[in-house]
Amino acid sequence: MTTLRVIDALGAEAPVSPATVQGWVRTRRDAKGFSFLEINDGSCLANIQAIVDESAPAFAVIDRATTGAAVSVTGELVESPGKGQQWELRAREMTVYGAADPETYPLQKKRHSDEFLRSIAHLRPRTNKYSAMLRIRAEAAFGVHEFYRDRGFHYLHTPILTGSDCEGAGEMFRVTTLPQDFAPPAGEPPYEQDFFGREANLTVSGQLEAECGALALSRVYTFGPTFRAENSNTPKHAAEFWMIEPEVAFCDIHGDMDLGEEFTRELTRHVLENCEKDVELFAKFVDKELMATLTNIIDNPFERIPHAEAVKILANAKKKFEFPVTPNMDLQTEHERYLCEEHFKRPVIVYDYPKEIKAFYMRLNDDDKTVAAMDLLVPRIGELIGGSQREERGDVLARRIAELGMNPEPLWWYTELRTFGSAPHAGFGLGFERFLMMVTGIANIRDVIPFPRTPRHLEF
Ligand code: 4AD
Ligand code: MG
Repeated sequence: MTTLRVIDALGAEAPVSPATVQGWVRTRRDAKGFSFLEINDGSCLANIQAIVDESAPAFAVIDRATTGAAVSVTGELVESPGKGQQWELRAREMTVYGAADPETYPLQKKRHSDEFLRSIAHLRPRTNKYSAMLRIRAEAAFGVHEFYRDRGFHYLHTPILTGSDCEGAGEMFRVTTLPQDFAPPAGEPPYEQDFFGREANLTVSGQLEAECGALALSRVYTFGPTFRAENSNTPKHAAEFWMIEPEVAFCDIHGDMDLGEEFTRELTRHVLENCEKDVELFAKFVDKELMATLTNIIDNPFERIPHAEAVKILANAKKKFEFPVTPNMDLQTEHERYLCEEHFKRPVIVYDYPKEIKAFYMRLNDDDKTVAAMDLLVPRIGELIGGSQREERGDVLARRIAELGMNPEPLWWYTELRTFGSAPHAGFGLGFERFLMMVTGIANIRDVIPFPRTPRHLEF
């Protein structure tokens, strides 16, 4: 085991000496009579420098300690005479656990393209960029739980296998145990012999089940993987992604927008405060505007406008859009980005959408034309959050389901929730990967997921 950090009584970091450092060699430089090794174990961006003198036993295996090799080095931690580090390790013993042939190891010290790194997803976590992203991802996940726990929410585990497309959120992946060439005998219902005896899919959202949780525990959230089989090859859609879905009882659309705004802001702050060095890497090499964007999110209130007003702004814009601006339109990424980046220059929440373009469960407004939906849009990404106040009135909900020609049967439990102790409630979903794109400046969703799943890509 690597020696862990020692903090002295004054809070200063004291060297543990002798110490053992275990990690992967980033580079080796040979000088006369000794070699420098830059070692990184993935715990942070910085490498530790080890000096292997030819008089040390460690020197016997130095030839195998090339870029990519896994090593364990024991030695004295001493003040470094060189620039760039305060401490360095004077190696005594070294074990090379696994060498990495310099002829074939793909991660030599140079910048590689994102496309190339995607093709070696098993090794890319060893680069600065991906290890930084993965540390930010892990810390942000912790921040999610902290945010909700601090506000009295309970983490609810909603199912990943679902009975039907209750949500209408997108195309679903079918799950079956039937053989590929299975055809039901004449007269038998299609899924009779399947594992569940009915159609089964991977979930697109935990919302409907989260509503049951909220109407019992008042405040719940889900945080888990969701699956959508949309064949959209864009930089911000994945077939498997993680979503955070809070659901709150006795809450209306305005409380929902407040929560979405606060969550976005506080999670951004959490990442900046806890991953400073890693975020700096992205600000330096990936997006020069990153710090300005993030500070703006933390420091300024978001804009809030009804959908009708957003349409007016877009209709009056001097910009030429690829998709035409019409009163009942669903906003496209180009429209969302125009509102955030050019018009308001900050995140924007658009609310009260035409009912025709939104889901059946969103609460019908008194105008009978719009629903209490809201999308939170951020610069560079567009939609980060989608949510709504839910239709808590049983009769109105039943009418909406009928209007949309949906089969009410699989939703019996969801509508029955409106029969017993129904209450106003609201919630939203925040796409975790979209958030990570926002805080790192990474432009493609494939590069904020360890092993991305997109159309025709299921390797690793
Ligand atoms: O807007 P969506 O579809 O909303 C829902 O699923 C609701 N049931 C949420 C709720 O009210 N509880 O998805 C929510 C968010 C989007 O705003 C986006 O950030 C992300 O999930 N998202 C995706 N992220 C990556 N890849 C995809 N294919 C995504 N589809 C949605
Ligand atoms: Mg949406």
